[in-house]
Amino acid sequence: MAKVKSKWVCQNCGYETVSYLGRCPECLQFGTFVEEIVSSVEKVVSSKPSNNVGGEIKISKIKEIELDEKVRFNTNIDELDRVLGGGFVQGSLVLLAGDPGIGKSTLVLQTTKNICETKINDKKLKVLYVCAEESPLQVKLRAKRLDIEPENLYLTNQTCIDEVINQIEVIKPDFLVVDSIQSVFCAGIASSSGSVSQIRECTNVLMRIAKQKNITTVIIGHVTKEGNIAGPKVLEHMVDCVINFEGDKYKQYRILRCIKNRFGTISEVGVFKMEDCGLVEVNSPVNLLIEQSEGASGSAIAVTLEGSRVFLHEIQALVGSTNYSNPRRVAVGLEYNRLLQVIAVLEKKVGLNLSKQDVYVNVAGGLDVVEPSYDLALSLAIISSIRDIPISPSTVFIGEVGLLGEIRYVENIERRLKEAKKLGFKKAIIPFINEKVYKNLSSIDLQIKQVKKITDAIVEGLSND
Ligand code: TYD
Ligand code: MG
Repeated sequence: MAKVKSKWVCQNCGYETVSYLGRCPECLQFGTFVEEIVSSVEKVVSSKPSNNVGGEIKISKIKEIELDEKVRFNTNIDELDRVLGGGFVQGSLVLLAGDPGIGKSTLVLQTTKNICETKINDKKLKVLYVCAEESPLQVKLRAKRLDIEPENLYLTNQTCIDEVINQIEVIKPDFLVVDSIQSVFCAGIASSSGSVSQIRECTNVLMRIAKQKNITTVIIGHVTKEGNIAGPKVLEHMVDCVINFEGDKYKQYRILRCIKNRFGTISEVGVFKMEDCGLVEVNSPVNLLIEQSEGASGSAIAVTLEGSRVFLHEIQALVGSTNYSNPRRVAVGLEYNRLLQVIAVLEKKVGLNLSKQDVYVNVAGGLDVVEPSYDLALSLAIISSIRDIPISPSTVFIGEVGLLGEIRYVENIERRLKEAKKLGFKKAIIPFINEKVYKNLSSIDLQIKQVKKITDAIVEGLSND
């Protein structure tokens, strides 16, 4: 009988040790070690070469490798295609990650509909959907609701990855969906599905199959409470492309963000809206995030840019006297440290005393802002709340606030201003820029105020002319 041995594996980064550790020496997280059984069978499985993903080994000169025109195919969902850099690359392994309930299964199901309609070499593509989390009946119910019943879509409720491989041999799909990687398992590994060892081995197997048989594979992965892809960083290293589906699941809007792409850039984002008929593309999302109520103090509009998309976000702030010995700083939808930095600049350069004030800030609309050009709007929202002076709802703020209180230039100011103009905004407070650039800006019919320092921005932002 095989001797049963165990190892302790960090569920965050995959670090392995022979005994329990309270804190992982690799990723420094506490309480992440879980005991996993190592059987002799696993040794056999893991001793297989895992890097031979291309099947037959051959050496070629880079010049001699021919590019196939049909190497990419579109999903006909523009927002997804843009994020992928022009559609799926044949034989690539894509990880779609996101919170439970955000709409991953819905997005993939809608994608399969279009993929089944795609023809390569005059043959419609075949899709195999591994419903490891839900039953095929549940998927069918959702598909019916979304009016998706293509001829070439095959469903299986097989959760053992080795059996999935057998089914791939039979069906010979061009596109494979595994929903989700946390629910499938590899028979050779003794630990339960969802553990690091299982996730790693299953992904390895799928990677080999994807490359050998040129099957485009999408694996769905859940995100942990801390916001990491559950089971681990190791997954991110293995796959070709990682896409995050973000947003507040209780609100309508969702953002698709690429965080790794071996076949394109990671600058583009896609925007969707969850409706009764599934996910709907939002092609001009610019003003959807504004919930501004006129005449209320503590709100300012920021114009941010992600990839080629312009977004207008409403930043809200509430500043009030504290009942605690340490005043509270709460940031929802933007980076906490950025809030602290802006508060420090306001204290030092504007002379505010916020040491006895709680500061709560929130980005309306449920989408996070990541680009630093929202600093100026954040500062003005805080000032507006402190002084209880509402900012004109037709004013936008663009600019990063430096530690010296200077307003830093941000890229593509012209595009941002044009979008603001299109949406009916009348005034823009922007960083000071040189005359050459300004020439182009003068053609935009907006009242543009250029500011060098945060103090100037406050004067301009709070004035109602
Ligand atoms: P789902 O795709 O199952 O999320 P995930 O796979 O990421 O866990 O979808 C989750 C939510 O989307 C679900 O709570 C209901 C909602 N939804 C709609 O509002 N409209 C729809 O048409 C569908 C299919 C789902
Ligand atoms: Mg799901």
